Amino acid sequence: SHPLRLGIAGLGTVGAGVVKIVRQKAALLAERAGREVQITAVSARNRDKDRGVSLTDYAWEDDPVALATRDDVDVYIELVGGSDGPAKASVEAALKAGKDVVTANKALLAHHGQELAELAEANGAVLRFEAAVAGGIPIIKALTESLAGNEVQRVMGVMNGTCNYILTRMEDGGLTYDEAFAEADGLGYLEADPNLDVGGIDAGHKLSLLAAIAFGTQVNFDAVELEGIGKITIEDIRQACDMGYKIKLLGVSRMTGRGLEQTMTPCLVPASSPLGQLVGGTNMVVVEGDQVGQIVMRGAGAGEGPTASAVMGDVMDIARGLRVSTFGQAASSLKPATPAQSTMP
Ligand code: HSE
Repeated sequence: SHPLRLGIAGLGTVGAGVVKIVRQKAALLAERAGREVQITAVSARNRDKDRGVSLTDYAWEDDPVALATRDDVDVYIELVGGSDGPAKASVEAALKAGKDVVTANKALLAHHGQELAELAEANGAVLRFEAAVAGGIPIIKALTESLAGNEVQRVMGVMNGTCNYILTRMEDGGLTYDEAFAEADGLGYLEADPNLDVGGIDAGHKLSLLAAIAFGTQVNFDAVELEGIGKITIEDIRQACDMGYKIKLLGVSRMTGRGLEQTMTPCLVPASSPLGQLVGGTNMVVVEGDQVGQIVMRGAGAGEGPTASAVMGDVMDIARGLRVSTFGQAASSLKPATPAQSTMP
């Protein structure tokens, strides 16, 4: 059958990683998908930057919207980032043109997931975002497909590697918050706006997406109770340690009688638990289903290989003809996410 043709916008760490996989594993991907997977066109802000991979085989577009709507692109891969601007405009343009979309953009989905899912369905397109939550951990596929026979009771996780790195260094290296923050910065871990990381916003975006899938609700990021790690002191961490606990920036979501609970806050977790043992810039997602019981998945939540791995998983699903709804069910069937937290003054 005919090849699947990809257009990639955004050639940072993740975009370059995707290009490398498609180039280096072409035969393997073709065998597994039963058809060739090719890149036809790419786009980025800077055309001349050396990304360690050849782009000369591909058409170039300066404008992601132009890339997203090209006739020779079947799947638009959005790795531009940002909740609005060119990322949103190009995803909308691709979906309106009936093209399937794969994105790693958690902010975009957290803010506009419902309208984009509806737009995808109205145009017979698929919108997938495995790479947006916990990087290489295949949690979206697990929830939407493998665990579809369960009612999820709770979903939890450490979903910002930078925060987990900072907390780990305060604990095992005795660094102050400021010192650990500076170390993370030096390693290039922090987002361009560091408050997205340490303010818990990035992790909150991810939790709001998991909650929507797990509980069949519309994404409601504004209802996530958020608190970052900026006020945590070494003293807090030592006291927790003395009692047999670790402090983690932990996301928890449950459906309660009062509504949907979504919290992304520093929490005490038992030091001996899987979450308590998670050190460094790693992620962990815990799902509790009524049939399967508890599942724990740990892995890299960021970085070239792990995030490109998740993007390619979505691409391969599309190449094989698998067409799962964005949030695991029709967008029109997602219930409003009434928050359980009282916001009474
Ligand atoms: N800043 C994020 C993290 C990157 O530290 O986990 C992946 O979304």
